[in-house]
Amino acid sequence: MNFNFSLDREIPVLDWTPYLASRARTMKSSAIRELLKLTEQPDVISFAGGLPAPEFFPLREIEEACRYVVQNEGARALQYSSTEGYLPLREWLATNMHKYGVPAVPNNVLITAGSQQGLDLIGKVFIEPGDYVITERPTYLGAIQAWNAYGARYRTVSLDDAGMVVDEIEEAYRDVVKETGRPPKFIYVLPNFHNPAGVTLSLERREKLAEIATRLNLPIVEDDPYGQLRFEGEDLPPICTFVPERTIYMSTFSKTLTPGLRLGWIVCPEVLMRQFVMAKQGSDLHTGTFVQYIANDICQRGFLKPHTQRLRRVYKERRDTMLDALAEFWPEGCSWTRPQGGLFLWARVPDSIHTTEFLRRALEEKVAYVPGENFYPNGDGGFNAMRLNFSFCPPETIVEGIRRLGVALKKALA
Ligand SMILES: Cc1ncc(COP(=O)(O)O)c(C=O)c1O
Repeated sequence: MNFNFSLDREIPVLDWTPYLASRARTMKSSAIRELLKLTEQPDVISFAGGLPAPEFFPLREIEEACRYVVQNEGARALQYSSTEGYLPLREWLATNMHKYGVPAVPNNVLITAGSQQGLDLIGKVFIEPGDYVITERPTYLGAIQAWNAYGARYRTVSLDDAGMVVDEIEEAYRDVVKETGRPPKFIYVLPNFHNPAGVTLSLERREKLAEIATRLNLPIVEDDPYGQLRFEGEDLPPICTFVPERTIYMSTFSKTLTPGLRLGWIVCPEVLMRQFVMAKQGSDLHTGTFVQYIANDICQRGFLKPHTQRLRRVYKERRDTMLDALAEFWPEGCSWTRPQGGLFLWARVPDSIHTTEFLRRALEEKVAYVPGENFYPNGDGGFNAMRLNFSFCPPETIVEGIRRLGVALKKALA
């Protein structure tokens, strides 16, 4: 065998386009990911990503858990394992859901590679090309990206300060049936500290949503990465408490432990588990065994509760800092939401400013955000809105970034 190829030889570029599946041809790169690249320069203050505060990642606890797992679990923690996930972790998660009134047992819990994989599996299992999903307007960009690959279409309903306007669901349902002759596949809802809008679905609307979904016989996908990060007001019951038989609930360790573990979970009716397990087997066989053991060790030691309490204090301070800075530095005619938890708020600027175009000016002032239109699945709104993340930057950087945005806004309005 001759391996004497030159490493710096010219490699011709093959046109791969004719080989691509139609779903790959229509895939668009996430605006957020593209933006994050732009904002990686060290002098840009970025409110764009959904990043947790890295200085609060529990490095010592993770190091201890790694050592404990390697010493006490040995090769088991590094072996292939079941698609459903590591049983002690699924038991812990199921029990943890009991305090919210969710009657989950381990057979209802599937461990996923972050909630994002949960969204992809839902697309894989439910969505045929042309199917409609009912979403809020705006909604989570990553869900749109996951489901676009399966050919989803979106019928959206409004969002206000009390979350999804559930009274619009029936009309949305009727429109879809009229157009396609079949019902939408499910309702996708972000109940707590909405990404991007920061708002929370009221108790009254949760009950109503459960009632409407039951009447229309629609499943609900409840995406809840931020529920643990409430820093004001009372916890509200998840929608799956009211209708566990028709709800697929999703959450994640990304915002409480670290996103780099890539660990999330789905809670769903047992009859659906087989479908998700088969879909997941084709994707990755199972979520990393080692990271599941690490998360389980951390959970079983009772570390998560005091840690999330600390995060809530930190994020509340950052939210307050951002709200104060907005009030101080932004011009007349702007408004914003006041989230009771989570990582984001949603700001509106005067109609004369198109936030996608304005981003270039903001970057000149060395500050970044995500333009609102990216969160509208049908591209029909959010033109004068932006998502601002308040968890990542320390308070003094938040003040400076909001000041810079204020300067750019005033220049644009002048
Ligand atoms: C609403 C929502 N769903 C899902 C995800 C994906 O989270 P994960 O890191 O668990 O994949 C995010 C991440 O920001 C999110 O905001």
